[in-house]
Amino acid sequence: MTGKLTHVESIGEAAAWGCGDSAVRRGRYGIDGGAIVVPVFGVLQAGLAGTVLWAIRHRRRSIARLASIAAMAVGGSAASYLYSTWRGKFAVWTEVLDELRLRGNENVLDVGCGRGAVLLLAAHRLPEGKAVGADIWRRRDQSGNSRAAVEHNAVVGSARPSRPCRR
Ligand SMILES: C[S@@+](CC[C@H](N)C(=O)[O-])C[C@H]1O[C@@H](n2cnc3c(N)ncnc32)[C@H](O)[C@@H]1O
Repeated sequence: MTGKLTHVESIGEAAAWGCGDSAVRRGRYGIDGGAIVVPVFGVLQAGLAGTVLWAIRHRRRSIARLASIAAMAVGGSAASYLYSTWRGKFAVWTEVLDELRLRGNENVLDVGCGRGAVLLLAAHRLPEGKAVGADIWRRRDQSGNSRAAVEHNAVVGSARPSRPCRR
């Protein structure tokens, strides 16, 4: 283990005020794989775009075609990656947690809670239980992960709604 394992507690109580999963999504959850992911995709795209331009200028059609295909593949991968980290994983975890059919009085431990995405989705299902998150908050695994980020997201996701919640 490269860091000190620490934890946040009693998220369940705070998060129980919110509108459930949609309230949790109001938080900020960073990028899985760390902030390095975006510049890596950016550099790849810039390199491929430069190659396409060079190939067109020098009438190297097959290189231009190959580089264009690679650029589309990289663009698609970037879009899919960011969709998964910002939206897709919430849909998957919502399904997984729903399938658990929690009664609402359980204790849940989320090891590797990051910025609290799964922890808070679980906490909303535990009005009488408790959700505890533990993490070493390693930045290369998720950008901006910290205990403070979890606590911030718990507050954002648990603000009393101005309109009645619809689930
Ligand atoms: C990809 S993030 C996912 C975070 C969160 N579960 C989510 O879905 O947003 C993985 C998290 O696991 C944490 N982690 C990695 N190794 C760990 C370990 N040995 N013990 C506790 N946490 C760990 C990282 O710090 C990071 O926050």
